[in-house]
Amino acid sequence: MSAALFDLTGKTALVTGSARGLGFAYAEGLAASGACVILNDIREELLQGSVAKLRDKGYQAHGVAFDVTNEEAVESAFASLEQQDLLVDILINNAGIQYRKPMVELELEQWQRVIDTNLTSAFIVSRAAAKRMIARGKGGKIINIGSLTSQAARPTVAPYTAAKGGIKMLTCAMAAEWAEFNIQTNAIGPGYILTDMNTALIENEAFDSWVKASNPSQRWGKPEELIGTAVFLSSAASDYINGQIIYVDGGWLAVL
Ligand SMILES: NC(=O)c1ccc[n+]([C@@H]2O[C@H](COP(=O)([O-])OP(=O)(O)OC[C@H]3O[C@@H](n4cnc5c(N)ncnc54)[C@H](O)[C@@H]3O)[C@@H](O)[C@H]2O)c1
Repeated sequence: MSAALFDLTGKTALVTGSARGLGFAYAEGLAASGACVILNDIREELLQGSVAKLRDKGYQAHGVAFDVTNEEAVESAFASLEQQDLLVDILINNAGIQYRKPMVELELEQWQRVIDTNLTSAFIVSRAAAKRMIARGKGGKIINIGSLTSQAARPTVAPYTAAKGGIKMLTCAMAAEWAEFNIQTNAIGPGYILTDMNTALIENEAFDSWVKASNPSQRWGKPEELIGTAVFLSSAASDYINGQIIYVDGGWLAVL
């Protein structure tokens, strides 16, 4: 297989929620494969530093701050990117939040915030990207970020589980509508990965032991271990793959 199949030179990729964590790892990985990357985050104070880190490595990187749950902010961000000739070929819907609380104690507002950030955002941002990809007629790639909870439930994370389960079927819905325009929409389902989102869990001895005991790989995943799948799903190597979710979980689901 030729390395050219995975080459992203000449492509522009927008990664939401990429000022840190897995989003930053995806952005760096795509940039290393030749893409011009646009980092997004709601946390403006982190965003410019992350863009600078990529530029310091010689990559083409830009930053655009917006809240992925805000329809108007998303539309105006896409309009401003277009004015800068930054036309999105690859979109990774990565922005997400976790919120742990038993369901009987959960307030509707808390439920809604998790659903909006993890699921509705993928609809809002993908719609903005896909209508432009369709108009340009050059196809594109959309990668939604699911989770182990796209497939299996855990206690205290009901809205996250519902949202990530929704991501799996939203990915199929996007494939059903946009495949004819040469847009491939797929998803990645990361397992338990060492990021800031999981700091409390990593520091909790009982949880840390459970993660290692329940996973045949007997360890947490590292952010850089998600990059290969993101590059694959962004590249010509995946041009006939559509509506799939690839779990990058060390085998956790395989032994469930
Ligand atoms: N870390 C894991 O183990 C793991 C496992 C499965 C899935 N995931 C998913 O991967 C994605 C990234 O997770 P992470 O661990 O890197 O988390 P993280 O908290 O380190 O990073 C998420 C980023 O998204 C940004 N963000 C949050 N809300 C936003 C909004 N409304 N608009 C724009 N940006 C926003 C945050 O500011 C942050 O920089 C999430 O969708 C998460 O659900 C993570």
